[in-house]
Amino acid sequence: MLFTMQTKEPEETFALGERLAAFLYPGTVVALTGELGAGKTLFAQGVAKGLGVKEHVTSPTFTIINEYQGHLPFYHIDAYRLEGTGEIDELGLEEYFNSSGVVLIEWPERIQDYLPSSFLRIHLDKEWDESGQEIRVISFFPVGSEWENVIGEFEESENTRN
Ligand SMILES: Nc1ncnc2c1ncn2[C@@H]1O[C@H](COP(=O)(O)OP(=O)(O)OP(=O)(O)O)[C@@H](O)[C@H]1O
Ligand SMILES: [Mg+2]
Repeated sequence: MLFTMQTKEPEETFALGERLAAFLYPGTVVALTGELGAGKTLFAQGVAKGLGVKEHVTSPTFTIINEYQGHLPFYHIDAYRLEGTGEIDELGLEEYFNSSGVVLIEWPERIQDYLPSSFLRIHLDKEWDESGQEIRVISFFPVGSEWENVIGEFEESENTRN
């Protein structure tokens, strides 16, 4: 893990996703992990906003993939309900991964064998702070060397914010 942030409110998680968007480029794949209700969709909505998507972004749980257009195409995948390789093959994931858009995947564990060799993994954990308030701990993991620099730049920008 390279970088960790805490958010105390849902709005902060959204805003973090929104700021991250500036560091993503065509062909980026983001894998968002974390338990039910961890804040993956909220984070994804922030990323969409940051990418200039004007439409309301909803969880694609039943549709599996939602497509939006911002400054870049934004593909939001929720793999939670996927079962079996047949269903996964039908999605044509390769095409999304090789596109010039940003692909963000909730429940990437479900399509583990299909993920590209390089992607940005972001993990959200529900935790409690000293005062007993529910918070989120959000960690950034590079998978593939290109992501180390991006996370480093994002961390620097977060650290110099105010
Ligand atoms: N600091 C926080 N950051 C994000 N969400 C928070 C925070 N505190 C509370 N929440 C709440 O947690 C919930 C997160 O819901 P969200 O749908 O984004 O989770 P999810 O990880 O996508 O779940 P699922 O696995 O069901 O798709 C929201 O109800 C939100 O208000
Ligand atoms: Mg979700």
